[in-house]
Amino acid sequence: MIVAANFKTNMTRRSTQEYMRALEAFIATGHSEDTVMVFPPATALDRWESSVIVGAQNAYATHHGAYTGEIGLEQLEEFDIRTILIGHSERRHVLGESQEEIVHKCHFYQEAGFTIVYCIGEPLEIRESGSDALMEYLEAQLEGIDLGYRNLIIAYEPVWAIGTGLTPSSDDILLIHNALKKMVQRPLLYGGSVKPNNAREIMALASVDGVLVGGASLNIDDFKSIIQATE
Ligand code: 13P
Repeated sequence: MIVAANFKTNMTRRSTQEYMRALEAFIATGHSEDTVMVFPPATALDRWESSVIVGAQNAYATHHGAYTGEIGLEQLEEFDIRTILIGHSERRHVLGESQEEIVHKCHFYQEAGFTIVYCIGEPLEIRESGSDALMEYLEAQLEGIDLGYRNLIIAYEPVWAIGTGLTPSSDDILLIHNALKKMVQRPLLYGGSVKPNNAREIMALASVDGVLVGGASLNIDDFKSIIQATE
């Protein structure tokens, strides 16, 4: 199983360091068969001697250059960061990244050999338009992405489930994951209000290869419980 923590715009360099120490101590007691990832804010990126994979929440498709406010490959390489989240709904819908920009970013970081956790997910109005519209929407979000890339991981995160405490039913997750698995034969994570009390049921679903956790990952005990739910 893959269990990933997306801190978003939370935590500091110091609190991330404390968190990583606690997480490493926990991982050292088991779970060697699971892949645990943490995506801290860019200011907390660092080099950790750890079995936990630390990734970037975002970066610009450049080695370096004049892109005020952005970081590029050079800033990630300093800390040996080799994993990146691309296409998260907050970047698409809040920060206005287009599919074209997202595809460009994917190609750039694929070229650099990164593991890409590529996020897709539909807003509520699409979900309410029926399953054909839903699958068409998700398919469009996969357009232009090299689905055969060996370091690609897909995260299905319905926008309406992110940070709301709402989740699709297990049957719905299964249905959508099964349909996605036909399009892309890569590990497929579920994200959106994953909590200690629903993680076990979600990860028990056949086509779920792991979870991408936002809010509940900020509390180390909750995140540890979610890792424990892989058992
Ligand atoms: P929540 O777990 O807070 O719903 O966030 C999910 C998410 O966006 C992870 O990338």
